[in-house]
Amino acid sequence: MTDLPRHGRSRVAQIAGIVRNAPDFLQRAAERCGDIVQLDVARGPVVLLTDPDATRTALADNKRFSKGFAPSAQIGHLGESPMRTILGDGLLTSRGERHRQRRRFIQPEFHPHRLGTYDEIIRSEADRMTSSWRDGAIIDVHATFAETTLRILTRTAFGTAVSDADAAMVRTSMDAATRWMAINAILVAFAPRLGHRQVLARRAALAGIDGLIGRLLAQPAETRNDLLFRLAAAGLSDGDLRAELLTLLLAGHETSTNALAWACHALAGQPGVLAAVNAEVEADPVEGPLLRAVVDETLRLYPPIWLMVRQTLSDVVLAGRRLPAGITILLSPYVLHRDRRWWSHPAEFDPYRWLTGPSGTHRTPVEARRAYLPFGAGPRACVAGAFAVNEIMIVLSRVLRDWHLRYAGAPARMLPRVTLRPRGEMRMRISRR
Ligand code: HEM
Repeated sequence: MTDLPRHGRSRVAQIAGIVRNAPDFLQRAAERCGDIVQLDVARGPVVLLTDPDATRTALADNKRFSKGFAPSAQIGHLGESPMRTILGDGLLTSRGERHRQRRRFIQPEFHPHRLGTYDEIIRSEADRMTSSWRDGAIIDVHATFAETTLRILTRTAFGTAVSDADAAMVRTSMDAATRWMAINAILVAFAPRLGHRQVLARRAALAGIDGLIGRLLAQPAETRNDLLFRLAAAGLSDGDLRAELLTLLLAGHETSTNALAWACHALAGQPGVLAAVNAEVEADPVEGPLLRAVVDETLRLYPPIWLMVRQTLSDVVLAGRRLPAGITILLSPYVLHRDRRWWSHPAEFDPYRWLTGPSGTHRTPVEARRAYLPFGAGPRACVAGAFAVNEIMIVLSRVLRDWHLRYAGAPARMLPRVTLRPRGEMRMRISRR
């Protein structure tokens, strides 16, 4: 199709690499082959792009690039990406005018000037979580944060907290619905029948969440003034409402959960940094520059959205190469954030790179202005980035103020699904400070 550098290994070897550890495979591909490389992992052409400026162009220019896989790389059977088939046409997956309209509607809810109004909910949910912790216990911090971020999201956006049983149900359903999803999106192109069955099974896995959404919608309207109420009042169809709620449930709590869990995990491996953050949290419970740096560094090393997908709508030139229309492009914050051309000692968790001195003010390092995209960029950038950072800072500061978290067993390993999660439980021993 093009004169692009090829990966060089056989198709089977490439697919095996993706199945084994997709972020690692992409990182190695970029290191070996350069800023733009053609992979043979789907029927249609798929290109990995890791040049920071070209990545930003692909994210910013929605005339020449569109979200999602090109039709040539999709499951022939469905003519639709798995994500869209499962979630419906919500903010995350919709395109064109429909997306613009929804975005205009939903964005103000998460605007920085509204954030203060959510602080009390976030604080109270963080305290509710830690009030059940027992000194010396071992907990799965990922599961614990998942419940808390879900309650924060449903209270702030939908005006009601979910019960513990519903939180557990959402976790199990999401888990079943997103298993293998990122990899599937590439692989099922070779086995459409299997792909179709899988997508239907995933959709079925969300039946419990559909029930929850029905109950959320049935709340008395006069008690509410939240996003859900405004969406319902705007006359959205049941299907559209379901899509928006499901999207917010999926996009709005897994991501923050992973960031919180990886932050605690990284701090447990860096006693010096942990002591300094603890001292800061005691003096300044929320706004401290080191705490903010810990969040930035966590999102660098463990970007919850580790992969974004775009397709070319017309012929384009990217990173000095010509690409025709209909190509799928993989953009990876994970690869960008660990590129040693832009980051010194990239595999190290070093929050101080975000500070001007040992206890200085927060800054954005030069390298980050180009090669740091935890929330994406352009018209499809995260609609709630500021909300998420605020939420993570508050929850983390409440935890660190009163508790020490240490590994209970071996450090966690990464599991790349739609989000970058820990593999299995993330078990940590908690003790009172
Ligand atoms: C640390 C937490 C989070 C991270 C790292 C994150 C990251 C991202 C990224 C990278 C995108 C762009 C995807 C793309 O361009 O393909 C995105 C989109 C989105 N995020 Fe987040 N997100 C986080 C938290 C949240 C929260 C808390 C919510 C909701 C309350 C949310 C809702 C969304 C939605 C609806 C979109 C789609 C926006 C659109 O297409 O217009 N995210 N997020």
